[in-house]
Amino acid sequence: MLSVSELFLNCGILHADQRQERRIMFITFEGIGGCGKTTQIEKLVEALKSQGHKVIRTREPGGSPCAEEIRRLILEGDKGKWSPETEILLFNAARRDHCERVIWPQQEHGAIVVSDRFVDSTRVYQGVARADLRQLVDTLHEVVIGYEPDLVLIIDVTAEEGQRRIRAARRDEQDRFDEMGLQFQQALRDGYLALVRTSSRAIVIDGNGSPDEVFERVWEAVQNSLP
Ligand code: TYD
Repeated sequence: MLSVSELFLNCGILHADQRQERRIMFITFEGIGGCGKTTQIEKLVEALKSQGHKVIRTREPGGSPCAEEIRRLILEGDKGKWSPETEILLFNAARRDHCERVIWPQQEHGAIVVSDRFVDSTRVYQGVARADLRQLVDTLHEVVIGYEPDLVLIIDVTAEEGQRRIRAARRDEQDRFDEMGLQFQQALRDGYLALVRTSSRAIVIDGNGSPDEVFERVWEAVQNSLP
C-alpha cells in the first residue's frame, strides 16, 4: 500500500507541502444558505485588485468547465437524488478538476485565489449535517486533493436570518440543499461553529449588519493573514 506522498509522487503530482511553498494565498468563504458570502466575495476581490494584486474569483461546486457540469448533476433535481456518500464522491471529482484546471495553475501564476466554498463545505454539509461522514470526507480529501486553504472565512448568521435573506432576494431557483429546511440549516451552522474550534485556518465573521459593516470584519481578517 502506497503512502499518500508516494501516491502523489507516482502520479507526478506536487504534494501539498510543495504546493504550499509556491502559493501566495488561497482564501475560501463558507457559511449556510443566505449568509451573504457572494456580496462579501465581490467586495474582497475588488479591494484586493485595487491594491494591485492579481485575483481569481471562483466557486464550488464548479469553477472549471467540467466541474460546472458536475455541479448541475449535484444541485438540480430531487433532494433525495444522491446518497451522502455518492455526493462526497461527486464533490471530490468536481474539486479535483477545479484544482487541476484553475486553482493550482492560477497559483503558479501568482494569483490570490478566492473561492466561494471548498472542502469545508463538504466537511459540514456531507460530513455533519447530511450524515455522520466526517471521517470519510477527510480521508478522501487527503488522498485525492491534499490541499487546504490558507484562510477560511465563515460568514455566520442564524438559520432563520439565512432563510429570511433567501426569501427577500426571491431566489426561486433554490438548490437541493436549500430545500432541506430550517433544521438542516441549523445543523449546518452548528457544524461550521464546531469546525472553527478545531481549525487554525478558519475564522468566524459575524454576518449581521450592513454589507459594508460585515466587509470591515472580512477585510481586517484578510489583512491580518496576507503574507
Ligand atoms: P450555491 O448556489 O453556490 O449555494 P450558496 O449560495 O448557498 O453557496 O450551491 C452550492 C450548494 O452546494 C450549497 O447548498 C452548498 C452545497 N455544497 C455541499 O453540500 N457540499 C460541498 O462540498 C459544496 C462545495 C457545496
